[in-house]
Amino acid sequence: MPTSTDVFAKVRGHEREELLKAAREADLMPYFRTVESPAMPVVDMEGSPRIMLASNNYLGLTGDERVMQGARDALNRYGTGLTGSRLLNGTIPLHLELERELAEWMGTDDALVFTTGHQANVGTLGTLLNAKDTVIVDSADHASIIDGVLLSRAKMRPFRHNRMDKLARALERAEQDGGGVLVVVDGVFSMEGDVAPLVDIVELCGRHGARLMVDEAHGAGVLGARGAGAAELLGVERRVDLRMGTFSKSLAACGGFVAGPAEVIDYLRISSRAFLFTASAVPAALGAALSALRIIRSPEGPQLLAEVLENARYLADGLHALGYRTLAGEPVRVGPEPDSPIQSIVTPIVPVLVGDDWRAALLWRALYDGGVFTNCALHPAVPPGGALLRTSVMATHDRPTLDRALEVFATVKRKFEDEHGPLPGPR
Ligand SMILES: Cc1ncc(COP(=O)(O)O)c(C=O)c1O
Repeated sequence: MPTSTDVFAKVRGHEREELLKAAREADLMPYFRTVESPAMPVVDMEGSPRIMLASNNYLGLTGDERVMQGARDALNRYGTGLTGSRLLNGTIPLHLELERELAEWMGTDDALVFTTGHQANVGTLGTLLNAKDTVIVDSADHASIIDGVLLSRAKMRPFRHNRMDKLARALERAEQDGGGVLVVVDGVFSMEGDVAPLVDIVELCGRHGARLMVDEAHGAGVLGARGAGAAELLGVERRVDLRMGTFSKSLAACGGFVAGPAEVIDYLRISSRAFLFTASAVPAALGAALSALRIIRSPEGPQLLAEVLENARYLADGLHALGYRTLAGEPVRVGPEPDSPIQSIVTPIVPVLVGDDWRAALLWRALYDGGVFTNCALHPAVPPGGALLRTSVMATHDRPTLDRALEVFATVKRKFEDEHGPLPGPR
């Protein structure tokens, strides 16, 4: 019998229950759909081929023979699992090679490999910050950043997404808080697909004596000449104190890292609980990530980076031409000089604004039935009334596949608007 002491009571009658129930009954649930083939531009899902516009496999390397061989070699050499933490029996030479090459790639003293990207954020923020510190976060920062901050019990001061006036105000207030101050932003925001104006952010941090950490989960392996992320593209790498990244996107595997000054990385190595008290990643994931990193850093890398961004531009232009409202971030300063150009930045993420949660689920389902899989982002992943379909491309999507996806978007839009009224149009 549930009583007031029953912790299970909250699983009944919670605020999203009705919506969830209705969505399940109408078979409109965009989540936990099963993918029955490798993560390629076209996948098998629930018995049908669907064009994958919902993956973070930006360079398409999960199916690359060299990356798969890297995973197989690691599996053959080290077995299926390491069954222990990095501290004890879970460190293998692949960790050390990866850490050295990641640090070289990021241009930092050192790097530390975690079992997931989520743990990299939690294990860095939860360790470096304490209750006396203040951390300033963008309101669109990834959940793993917020989790790390909550764990640390630092005072959190959020600011409106990418609003530099609000960041400046938060920095002024944080100076009065009396402890250390850290600003944490995503380099590329995972739902919105826009970049943080890092040139302005490093200037503001410098003026207020705050440290800066950038989450490059969606920027590393995508932006910059070396593919080292938003900080590289915007010319501020040296002025960012810590950079976090994940293997679960362009690096085609699973795992995460933080890169920065030797003393900080060393401190995390001996004190980060999310690093010390969890099993290290399976060898196959490390072998795949290392092979993917080597491809990105090889002469082939720039071509792959250019291809994914060209595909993103093509899809965004196509959707815009069909009358969808795609979100593009505000132009940002590219370079640290006062006369550095201000440019719009293309990323592989092309969000399509719908607005209402239920209409977004209906549109998602119509596209799914038409053979296109997108991600449906509802509140609280996005602000209330800001429901969107997050589409994303890979370097390996070819034009005929993107054209087929656009044809489906065109057909679905006509039918959807006849039945449910107009969708937001282009600005
Ligand atoms: C911005 C951002 N940071 C961190 C993470 C966590 O990475 P992982 O999925 O490797 O745990 C993600 C992935 O969802 C992300 O999008």
